Amino acid sequence: MSNENETLSVAFSQVSGNFRGQEMKKVTCTAPVNIAVIKYWGKQNEELILPINSSLSVTLHQDQLKTTTSAAASREFTEDRIWLNGKEENISHPRLQSCLREIRRLARKRRNEEGDENVSRILNDKVHICSVNNFPTAAGLASSAAGYACLVYTLAKLYGVEGELSEIARQGSGSACRSMYGGFVQWVMGERDDGKDSLAKQVEPESHWPELRVLILVATAEKKHVGSTAGMQTSVETSPLLKLRADLVVPERMEAMIESIRKKDFKAFGELTMKDSNQFHATCLDTYPPIFYLNSVSQRVISVVHQYNTYYGQTKVAYSFDAGPNAVIFMLEPTVNEFVEVVKHCFPPESNGDTYLKGLPVGSAVLSEGLQSIVASDPNPGGVRYIIYTKPGPGPTLSQDLTLDLLDADGLPLQCA
Ligand code: DP6
Repeated sequence: MSNENETLSVAFSQVSGNFRGQEMKKVTCTAPVNIAVIKYWGKQNEELILPINSSLSVTLHQDQLKTTTSAAASREFTEDRIWLNGKEENISHPRLQSCLREIRRLARKRRNEEGDENVSRILNDKVHICSVNNFPTAAGLASSAAGYACLVYTLAKLYGVEGELSEIARQGSGSACRSMYGGFVQWVMGERDDGKDSLAKQVEPESHWPELRVLILVATAEKKHVGSTAGMQTSVETSPLLKLRADLVVPERMEAMIESIRKKDFKAFGELTMKDSNQFHATCLDTYPPIFYLNSVSQRVISVVHQYNTYYGQTKVAYSFDAGPNAVIFMLEPTVNEFVEVVKHCFPPESNGDTYLKGLPVGSAVLSEGLQSIVASDPNPGGVRYIIYTKPGPGPTLSQDLTLDLLDADGLPLQCA
């Protein structure tokens, strides 16, 4: 992150116009999606969003998946307002309010300590916030993590607030705290009741493991049935397996996972990733009434991954599933072309208007007879709607690109204007 003065000067140099003769300050930032390889599932404090176990994720590259947020402050605005993906939403939502309140509290603290005139002025203004994802929310990809990370990062830039921000992003959505950094990120659960030590920290930057690649197999466009927040609450109340997982399994697994990442040991990384995803879904089944996030496509993906690894006699690909049926598959770069071909054989594209392959370019590959026999049985046309090919990437960034700006000179959403 940049130093404090730099941020302040950025925040106030991004003055993008005069709204009814008054100065309007405006910034635009982007933030990434992350996928947990040691899952967060369960809170011990619902309001502060304090988890029952630590978790660890890989931040995905923003070239493929990102949220963009513009925030503007002006004396002319009569109320705080927010637009998400083209629709105005109620800004009184408690999680949005927590993030706004905490950023303003830090700004006030800064003003009191440093007597900064600019901060003083902006603290009296209302804000307009506009946010969009470059991926379909309906695809069921975790949008709240990128969304809240982007909101907090953008507001921090607008108010000239620096320092530890993952604690605030956490109060928007637990997994959002991990999207505040790039690469490999741990959310340390912390011990304090006030949550001050429940923070994200970077384990390694994205440059640490340059060969690591990620395929997202988008299985369905349906909206998920049970949201993470409600689902994990029922799990905490009813699943004995979840307690065992949080108390005994995760602490041990976390150490092994960090070591596998530091050593770039794909076998260890992949096996732990799959086992942790499986245990998370086992706790969902152990929840009463049970929660099912995986569908028949997810199950087929799991079996194809294991068959592929068995064929090679080594762990070359590894899956992970969050609260939905989409598969996230990790592998090293030399495996990508062939594994994409395997997926194409198992889930032949249907002409549904979508491009089947999105993201980084994929080369061609010819499947050996052995692999063909694995994938020939029971093809499921249309089971995978499309594939997004990406890799680990950096954390949130302040955009210098004016074309990304989402608010017009009046501080209203450009696409709705
Ligand atoms: C399965 O962060 O969406 O993706 O804190 O209630 O907003 P809230 O939940 P959320 O839960 C994410 C759950 C998960 C696992 C993970 O990302 O660690």
